[in-house]
Amino acid sequence: MCPFINFPAHQLFLKEGLKRIQHRSVHSLPGTTIRDKILALKEERNAIILVHNYQLPEVQDIADLCGDSLELSRAAATMDAEVIVFCGVDFMAETAAILSPNKTVLLPAPDACCPMAQMISAEELRFAKARNPDAAVVCYVNTTAEVKAESDICCTSSNAVKVVNSVKQDRVIFVPDRNLGRYAARFTKKEVLPWEGFCIVHDQITPAHVAAARQAHPGAVLIVHPECRPEVIDLADRVASTSGIIHKVCTSPEQDFIIGTEVGVLHRLGKECPMKRCYPLSQAAVCRNMKKTDLAKVRDALQTLRPRITVPDEIADRARGAIERMLAL
Ligand code: 13P
Ligand code: SF4
Repeated sequence: MCPFINFPAHQLFLKEGLKRIQHRSVHSLPGTTIRDKILALKEERNAIILVHNYQLPEVQDIADLCGDSLELSRAAATMDAEVIVFCGVDFMAETAAILSPNKTVLLPAPDACCPMAQMISAEELRFAKARNPDAAVVCYVNTTAEVKAESDICCTSSNAVKVVNSVKQDRVIFVPDRNLGRYAARFTKKEVLPWEGFCIVHDQITPAHVAAARQAHPGAVLIVHPECRPEVIDLADRVASTSGIIHKVCTSPEQDFIIGTEVGVLHRLGKECPMKRCYPLSQAAVCRNMKKTDLAKVRDALQTLRPRITVPDEIADRARGAIERMLAL
């Protein structure tokens, strides 16, 4: 069970960073770096490494693909490999296991979970469905396999509006993110019934952060993730998924950007558009679970083929329908 811990995120980030530096020195044998070892094991195992945009910089740097939830789901379904090492959180590895039941899916940090995904259970969703029999169920990909199995169609932050508009029903139960649900509701004539879940990282960002950042960086373009609160979205210049944010920064003529999401995306921004100046909207926007994966854990996972993520067939078969309907869009 994923603990809902409220913590001073930046302090934890610094402490974990220090631990990683100490850990790295233990594994830095002369001649062979931990990175070399991972690349060699990857070949040996016929593995691919999928990495979410919020992962630690050194983990992003060993990725075969670094991306947002939709890009990673697509890759898990289509990329040719016997083993998928998923550097992200539990629901992402579960999604990969559902889409590729014949591949070995590894989650190097087995305790890396998404608190938002724990904010609704399959039983609670069944109850909501019984009360709203005329409504379709759209579930954010940040859900357990059991919740996906109860849903009509899945969505990610990059396609939520499109998915909500794709269902034939006029009413939609949207789970579990109230902020993404309300964001999608702005672009549809359908009645959206958002569940009361939220991301503990994005929901902490407030209009006061926007005011401070705008004052510190006048003229910068503010791009936020749709997991942010409606009052923050109201103040943003653009709204996008993590990869959408990176794409917008890299392709826009503007030079200065305030980035309203988890700080991990700043690494890719620095690499892919180094001429642009990007500032975090909140330095405290750190997802502790996304930072649990480090290079040593990736190496160990490839070496031992553990921890392995599997989903029981009966649940996977029903959840796969919801994910595949999204991918087909
Ligand atoms: P995306 O990368 O799909 O925008 O999702 C963000 C997120 O919070 C994943 O947990
Ligand atoms: Fe979950 Fe938020 Fe972390 Fe994404 S950033 S994994 S939604 S807690």
